[in-house]
Amino acid sequence: MDFQGVKGTRDFYPDVMRVRNYVVDAWRRVSLRNGFEEYDSPIFEYLDLFTIKSGQEIAEQLFHFTDRGGRHLAIRPEITPALARMVNARIGSLPRPIKWFSVPRLCRAEQPQRGRLREFFQWNIDVIGSDSVLADAECIFAAVDFLREVHLTADDVVVRIGSRPLTILALGAAGVPTDRTEAALAVLDKRPKLSDGDFRKFAAENGLTGGQVDFLCRFQDCAEVGEARELLAGQEGVAEQIDSLAELMAALGSLGAAEYCTLDLRIVRGLAYYTGVVYEIFDRGESLRAVAGGGRYDNLLEVLGGPKLGATGFGMGDVVLGILLEEKGKVRPEIQTGSLDYFVIAAEDGTFETVMRLVGQLRQRGWSADFSYGAERSTGKQLKEANRRNARTAVLVRQDGLGVKDLSTGRQEEMTVEEFLRGVKAARD
Ligand code: HAM
Repeated sequence: MDFQGVKGTRDFYPDVMRVRNYVVDAWRRVSLRNGFEEYDSPIFEYLDLFTIKSGQEIAEQLFHFTDRGGRHLAIRPEITPALARMVNARIGSLPRPIKWFSVPRLCRAEQPQRGRLREFFQWNIDVIGSDSVLADAECIFAAVDFLREVHLTADDVVVRIGSRPLTILALGAAGVPTDRTEAALAVLDKRPKLSDGDFRKFAAENGLTGGQVDFLCRFQDCAEVGEARELLAGQEGVAEQIDSLAELMAALGSLGAAEYCTLDLRIVRGLAYYTGVVYEIFDRGESLRAVAGGGRYDNLLEVLGGPKLGATGFGMGDVVLGILLEEKGKVRPEIQTGSLDYFVIAAEDGTFETVMRLVGQLRQRGWSADFSYGAERSTGKQLKEANRRNARTAVLVRQDGLGVKDLSTGRQEEMTVEEFLRGVKAARD
């Protein structure tokens, strides 16, 4: 029988796993230096948690099942509702604002395509318990901080920032009835993914008139907040929303993220729970799906049985990011090949015992060290293996002492075993 992995899933062989670890390590490092603490949730939850407020798209993509007790369960397609559930459960004792991050493995029964799989990893950054735009700014800054960390510049990627409340005001100004708001937002979310003709057809099928579509496109195509202000003049609440967008942009400027950020009112987001600023990160060439997406969701905790509490954050998947890093040449060869601190070589007969002793000592001191099992192999072959494994130093063990060779410069120093061990400090000193 010939077994294959399921379509839309990936096997992580060591060279691919190294790249995944490189990304996840950077996500963790950047989260911690931005003041976020790590949490996690179960892989599966009650189905309702993910259908109640995430919107139709997520509901259609759920992997769900019934357990032997007849409970309806689902594998997590996102972590945000689980985060809200966890925070609600301890709401009295958690100091606010809550700044938490996570790197969950998620599953969505999507049609696999470039950048979208059925199992992926997603970095989540969220701030709960604050209505301030500073919380939104901090999340966006963390994303930019990570992009810089992996050497993606403002010429490579862009954070496109829109506003749900402004878009809802535009729907009102266009005469879309309030009970059609959610459906109309879902239609607008599809606009960037469709041709103009297809979008108009799709909008008409979903009850928007040609005149409404014209007006909404004019709104979405405003390049500056001033234009949107004029277009929506007379609508109550416009000034407040425009001011808050301006405040966000100013905060991003102060933090040093402005070059990556731009206003884009076409950003609406597919998930139903967003209530405020929304954003997505794209490659500048716009040839790929979104690298990340997020925004403010001030009602989700309340909908899930908790208090009304300001919340904001984003998710960044590893799939589009991986393609982008590859395309831009940011996956340096040493990330894929891995490396060793030491490779210890039996350069003469009768030295294998010393090889083992040295390897044991180096490992106990925290250095990565390896050796070849075949003690009878030639020194040349063992040196070749040291190079293939990207070792920084080769230690050639002879009867009368050691040759310690720096494999990047080729320089070799002679010393005794005792001198060598005295010189090798613990890796973490
Ligand atoms: P989302 O837009 O559904 O938002 O996903 C965010 C990111 O996860 C996407 O931009 C993409 O990079 C990645 N992603 C989503 N689906 C897939 C897939 N099938 N294959 C590969 N990557 C994928 C959320 O999930 C929100 N819960 C984010 C959030 C956190 N909002 C507030 N806090």
